[in-house]
Amino acid sequence: MTTAPELDFGKDNVARGYDDVLVPLIFRPWGERLLAEHGPWDGRTVLDLATGTGVVARLLADRVGSNGKVIAADINPQMLNIAKHHCADAGERVRFLESSAHPLELEGGVVDAVICQQGFQFFPDRAQSAVEMLRVLRDEGVALVSTWRSVAECKAFGAICGALDAIGETELANMMRRPFDHLPEDELQAHFEDAGFNSVELQRHEALMTCHGGPKSAIELALATPIGPHLRELAESVFSRFTDELSDRATELSRGESHLGKLVSNVIVARK
Ligand SMILES: C[S@@+](CC[C@H](N)C(=O)[O-])C[C@H]1O[C@@H](n2cnc3c(N)ncnc32)[C@H](O)[C@@H]1O
Repeated sequence: MTTAPELDFGKDNVARGYDDVLVPLIFRPWGERLLAEHGPWDGRTVLDLATGTGVVARLLADRVGSNGKVIAADINPQMLNIAKHHCADAGERVRFLESSAHPLELEGGVVDAVICQQGFQFFPDRAQSAVEMLRVLRDEGVALVSTWRSVAECKAFGAICGALDAIGETELANMMRRPFDHLPEDELQAHFEDAGFNSVELQRHEALMTCHGGPKSAIELALATPIGPHLRELAESVFSRFTDELSDRATELSRGESHLGKLVSNVIVARK
């Protein structure tokens, strides 16, 4: 696989943009769907691994009830700080853990489920991260792990990459491809089979990315990703060419409707 520069979530402005724009547009609706399709959650202890700004942890806190617990873990304190703020109402039902996915700072056999929404593709040692998930699960526990499919299938991000390529910003385009194009489904599935899970099912989820701002939303989306700080550093004329290119592509995607095309994700359902 080709390598691309890492995306950095560990900056305050990235965490803020992520929470303000990407969570309502993408991660909350996808998290709601993931939780609705699995469960039941009442009374469960659930690890939300790579919790980010805690959207899934918040949704879980409402679902696990007074006998359940949520552990929200992330490597970046900037993301966790926002998660803590959002989950304040849940009190002791949500515990926060500043930890990498591998090694995971948690005892073995303590959770009924691990959820990892769009985090696994960023882990430097994915094989060991899958082993860590298995280790912290109780017997018959389940790991739900979602990772985007390629930018060719995740249309709004394909449009951002296409616009960057068109203006010669190939390195930025490759950074943007990083969460999408670097983890084929067979490799994803093999990590969980090799880790020793009893059963591993690969599902494919897709949904239109609903938004009302048309091309303006696509620009807002690009600026809210971890490549946002790099886009803001472009010369004004280059940035303006980027927004023109992206607006054209977004207009074509939405065709006058309130969306920016489909997003498609792989979802692993792995049982211990
Ligand atoms: C795209 S965000 C997903 C956040 C969250 N799951 C959600 O649905 O909004 C990816 C997250 O992975 C975290 N992350 C990246 N590498 C990590 C690692 N090695 N261990 C733990 N978390 C990591 C980042 O800090 C970031 O919060």
